[in-house]
Amino acid sequence: MTALSSLETDTAHVVAQVASRGIPVDGETIARVRAEFPRLHRLFRALYGARADGLEALLRLISLTLDAHDARPAALRALDRRRAAEPDWFQSERMLGGVCYVDRFAGDLEGIRRAIPYFQELGLTYLHLMPLFQSPEGSNDGGYAVSDYRTVDPSLGTMDELRALADDLRAAGISLVLDFIFNHTSNEHHWARRAVAGDPEFADFYLIYPDRELPDAYERTTREIFPDDHPGSFVPLPDGRWIWATFYRFQWDLNYAHPDVFAAMAGEMLFLANQGVEILRMDAVAFIWKRLGTPCESLPEAHLLLQAFNAVLRIAAPAVLFKSEAIVHPDEVKDYISPDECQLSYNPLQMALTWEALATRDARLLQRALDERHALPEGTAWVTYVRSHDDIGWTFDDTDAAALGIAGASHRRFLNDFFIGRFDGSFSRGYPFQENPRTGDARIAGTTASLAGIEAGDAGGEDRVVLAHALAFSTGGVPLIYLGDEVAQLNDDSFADDPDHRDDSRWVHRPRRSDERYAQRHDPTTPAGRVFGRLRELIERRRATPEFAGNALVLFHTPHASVLGYTRPGRGDSDAAVLVLANVGDDAQLVTAETLRGLEPEATDVITGGAVNLAGGLILAPHGFVWLRVRGR
Ligand code: GLC
Ligand code: GLC
Repeated sequence: MTALSSLETDTAHVVAQVASRGIPVDGETIARVRAEFPRLHRLFRALYGARADGLEALLRLISLTLDAHDARPAALRALDRRRAAEPDWFQSERMLGGVCYVDRFAGDLEGIRRAIPYFQELGLTYLHLMPLFQSPEGSNDGGYAVSDYRTVDPSLGTMDELRALADDLRAAGISLVLDFIFNHTSNEHHWARRAVAGDPEFADFYLIYPDRELPDAYERTTREIFPDDHPGSFVPLPDGRWIWATFYRFQWDLNYAHPDVFAAMAGEMLFLANQGVEILRMDAVAFIWKRLGTPCESLPEAHLLLQAFNAVLRIAAPAVLFKSEAIVHPDEVKDYISPDECQLSYNPLQMALTWEALATRDARLLQRALDERHALPEGTAWVTYVRSHDDIGWTFDDTDAAALGIAGASHRRFLNDFFIGRFDGSFSRGYPFQENPRTGDARIAGTTASLAGIEAGDAGGEDRVVLAHALAFSTGGVPLIYLGDEVAQLNDDSFADDPDHRDDSRWVHRPRRSDERYAQRHDPTTPAGRVFGRLRELIERRRATPEFAGNALVLFHTPHASVLGYTRPGRGDSDAAVLVLANVGDDAQLVTAETLRGLEPEATDVITGGAVNLAGGLILAPHGFVWLRVRGR
């Protein structure tokens, strides 16, 4: 066993080992290894420097990375080269994402393939298929409990079909996005079975304790994620031991303090990359490193691990990007975003505050988030969304809220009550998710249409759906549509009859694809047709508006609490910019000429293409918005 030592010594060792592999490695790859090795070495020293076997682990990692590179299909190597030539491809105004469950949207992978013309009709360039790997029968957290990363759930198809689908999507201009569920595996994964059985090779792959001593100590500072399922962060094994399970009892957290776990998961990641996945959604990033006496969320080592995974990809599959799923405090969300770590990240703050603004008819908290928490490092982008397959939690910063005279805790209670429909006069028909009577915490669930008022028959329902999307489409980044929302699908209350789903209210907003609604999508006499038509128009206009590329956003304040404003200068050097004004209120709002005085009066409506004169001010309809091409004066 050899511990890691200096970069020079270890480089010499690794170079000798690589040379002795006898597998030819091309010059470009050698150059990439050389470029990435110092970083990987530094990260490994920081993570595993104290271990006696650090160097062996790093060698195994390099070796499996080179194997993955050897196995990378020619088409994907060509993609690697294309992306290298156009590294900002994902920041384009043409990017648009969709997300769906394979079985719920299309039955199986073949059904997804047949839906490609529809994805093109909608304008997608990015398709996130929810977890589709082998997982336990029955309850499996919608596939987030993976039993084998190399086997597709047989009811959905095969790995060959997945690979072919990735090719077909790419040929249609659509990047395949899959989850990399690397914080935990299912309890049925062979590593898990062997760890519990005491196989020395896997004994340290998970966090297993003989009694409650350490679990109790850890739980003094950890947060309960799924309190409906089990209290705390551990579940008992049949023999009385305790195992770490942040999420469901059958999702066991991996022990990344052990470098073999890192290498093993890197192997699974590279396998996925070589199937043609272009973006990996890094699931539950905040939870991957634990240390006693801390919340065991967003620890510095979590970042080092992500950077190390990223360095491995840069060698073997450089086209692939990471999207961070960190649904945590906004300060922490940002920490995952950098070209060296996750190039993309969900924007849960903008998502949650869009709903907050619709409920309160007050856009100030959202405006503040855009003003102060929107900027990102070069080479990265937000994924902006109205809702996902998960619950909505109120992740805003309490100090931001306090600056507007809003008390965080009571505001969260109000928002939960409002969206669950417990608040008088609410337009929303959401469900509570994981209400924790001990802490008073709760999150909410519901489809966009049901949360926005369409289900309740509220007159503003459709406008709110369109407005929420218009914001996600215009603030910068990759907008992501939960498929079904574009045809205003309502809550699926039948989840309560399914024994595998009834204890998890997120299923209320994961309805099966409604053939009826999709058939109505061109019929403007139906809600589905109206919402679809309006969203399609916005998507078309967005694609033709270069100012929407990139992430730059300049504040534009109005004196009205219900009006949100910002301009998007785009990435070019044109002196035009697109001004977005949006009214979250139930009443029309005049934005006066005085407020608009910094702009030339002649503007163009980007949506209709028509000329607009700002000299007399501008009236925003209730839940109305404008996208205007303007020039400063
Ligand atoms: C992520 C997923 C969520 C899942 C959890 C555990 O947060 O989005 O659906 O329950 O991870 O994998
Ligand atoms: C995420 C979040 C949590 C969310 C859950 C999935 O990782 O931290 O708020 O509810 O997973 O639902």
